[in-house]
Amino acid sequence: MLHNIIKMDFFKKDTRTALQAKEYAQWIAFAPMVFQASRALRNLNILAEVHESRKVGVTIEEVCKKLDLSNYGARVLMEAGLGIGLLLVNNDRYTLTKAGYLILNDPLTKVNFDFSNDVCYEGLFSLTESIKSGKPEGLKVFGNWKTVYDALAHLQPNIQKSWFAFDHYYSDDSFPEVLEYVYKTKPKTLLDIGGNTGKWAISSVNFDTDVHVTIMDLPGQAEMAKKNIDKLGLSNRVSFYQTNILDESIPFPKHFDVIWMSQFLDCFSDDEIISILSRCRNSLNDDGAVYILEPFWDNQRFEAAAFSLQMTSIYFTAIANGNSQMYNSTIFIKLIEKAGFVVEETTNDIGISNTLIKCIKKFEKN
Ligand SMILES: C[S@@+](CC[C@H](N)C(=O)[O-])C[C@H]1O[C@@H](n2cnc3c(N)ncnc32)[C@H](O)[C@@H]1O
Repeated sequence: MLHNIIKMDFFKKDTRTALQAKEYAQWIAFAPMVFQASRALRNLNILAEVHESRKVGVTIEEVCKKLDLSNYGARVLMEAGLGIGLLLVNNDRYTLTKAGYLILNDPLTKVNFDFSNDVCYEGLFSLTESIKSGKPEGLKVFGNWKTVYDALAHLQPNIQKSWFAFDHYYSDDSFPEVLEYVYKTKPKTLLDIGGNTGKWAISSVNFDTDVHVTIMDLPGQAEMAKKNIDKLGLSNRVSFYQTNILDESIPFPKHFDVIWMSQFLDCFSDDEIISILSRCRNSLNDDGAVYILEPFWDNQRFEAAAFSLQMTSIYFTAIANGNSQMYNSTIFIKLIEKAGFVVEETTNDIGISNTLIKCIKKFEKN
């Protein structure tokens, strides 16, 4: 599981020629059309129909007959699919490109696509306003909420589904990789801050038969987690602590061997992270450890992964809370140190994009 920190060179040089830059600028200018046309090609089953035809290909006429679409509708979308790079045409017969295949079948692309559309698309109109006000102005498309986390339990089912699919996609596959590492020292008590639907808590109590987990989250999410845990008959192994962590007057529960935060601290600003970690310090036993699982954009091996995280930060600005992001690890580690911890170990390349940071309390001697 241990890998060296890989630092990327993607963002050091402008590698495009002048012509490529001009082309690229048009991609940005027409990005909403690229996105919505690709979505319509997928949702109207045009990509699936073209895929069915394999190498033989299919004509516009055949597609509109099969899918009961107008010739005009199929034509504008399929011609757009050529420019976008999802489709190819030879002798009037359309076939799928590799990118078209991924839009149709790749789970990662589907999760990102549906999240961008269902959770972000409309609210992103308010990005500039959000940058100016420091508030998630785009969230008003879902109602009158302070942050997306307050709204989460009340969103329409399709929006909730896309939010949770996105959230879980990036943490689920990391949990099996890190369980052994976190439970190596046999902690008896673990505080899971931002425990959400209870996935880490459930994996934990199934992995280690002695540990007791406390999930700390906003009331809506803590209730959801409780339901899931009750259903599995694990209520005697998991406790719940409902709170709003931003309210500094509400105390943390105390005396934990381990505090676990997975994709949690990215929901907060620099100063809020320092405040949360300082309070974690008081609720952790002196020989305990804090484990932070986070995807840092500067720790990614692939440019597309760094890009996805940088774009996710824009969701945090316009929709989630107006003041947090997917962090750069150097900035983040300084916040950990300011809160009175030392980073004991950093492990990259966990799951699809995560880094695990183990921190211990800083005392004068260390
Ligand atoms: C991005 S989710 C991460 C969930 C989970 N730990 C994972 O790895 O998939 C962030 C979690 O933090 C919780 N959260 C956000 N703001 C909070 C606040 N102010 N107080 C308590 N919990 C909060 C949310 O309710 C949500 O469950």
